[in-house]
Amino acid sequence: MINLILLGLPGAGKGTQSERLVDKYHLAHISTGDMFREAMAKKTPVGLEAKSYIDKGNLVPDEVTAKLVEERLQKPDTEQGYILDGFPRTTVQAEMLEKITKKLGKELTNVISIDVQEDELVKRLSARYMCRTCGATYNKLFKPTKVEGTCDRCGGHDFYQREDDKPEVVRNRLQVNEKMNAPLKDFYQKKGLLTSIDGEQTPDEVWADVDKVFSK
Ligand code: AP5
Ligand code: MG
Repeated sequence: MINLILLGLPGAGKGTQSERLVDKYHLAHISTGDMFREAMAKKTPVGLEAKSYIDKGNLVPDEVTAKLVEERLQKPDTEQGYILDGFPRTTVQAEMLEKITKKLGKELTNVISIDVQEDELVKRLSARYMCRTCGATYNKLFKPTKVEGTCDRCGGHDFYQREDDKPEVVRNRLQVNEKMNAPLKDFYQKKGLLTSIDGEQTPDEVWADVDKVFSK
């Protein structure tokens, strides 16, 4: 069983590596960021609340986020294992998660931190673009579509840049997340769950290191 947290600053490659983990291990992919963007698009109450934080690059309040994750972890697809991508982001959330997973009998088995320096993150985020049809992620500098203007995964032609990838917002996002990152890593280091990986390698090399954690 793999019940995993992927830690990493914005742009570290959590989503990119999650896609590969889902393909190989059929885990439920729980990205709080994706869930909020979906809620924002549908203009649900959670979406409307989250928008005021996300558009500025700030964190959505812990209680709102934890509730979303608690509901998601009760769905049956998580019984085969799950990836938490972007949650927890504060030690308060980490403590909340501990209670939730205990209650549901879905305790964590691994925590992987993908480590990347700030300069590289800024570069990646400003070059990221997304397929509007299927949500696949690309990068003008590092991972363009194979055929220009056509999504590799779904063949769609409509792409967009995330609101919070605009340069003014990226700086604040990075600052906000950096403050929380070290204590969070400490939290899981002390529990003996943490593996840190050099995220400044190519996506294939990062994947090799991620996969090594599970083939041990
Ligand atoms: P969220 O959507 O989770 O954003 P994030 O953490 O800022 O992370 P990203 O999705 O930007 O980056 P990623 O690590 O997935 O990188 P990716 O694989 O795309 O959250 C958004 C917002 O929601 C938050 O700011 C917050 O407001 C709110 N929120 C979410 N969770 C919350 C929580 N728990 N509590 C409170 N608020 C919360 O890769 C980035 C780019 O780099 C891509 O273009 C990719 O192609 C490229 N790339 C990936 N790997 C490599 C590589 N090895 N080399 C070169 N390029 C690479
Ligand atoms: Mg992501």
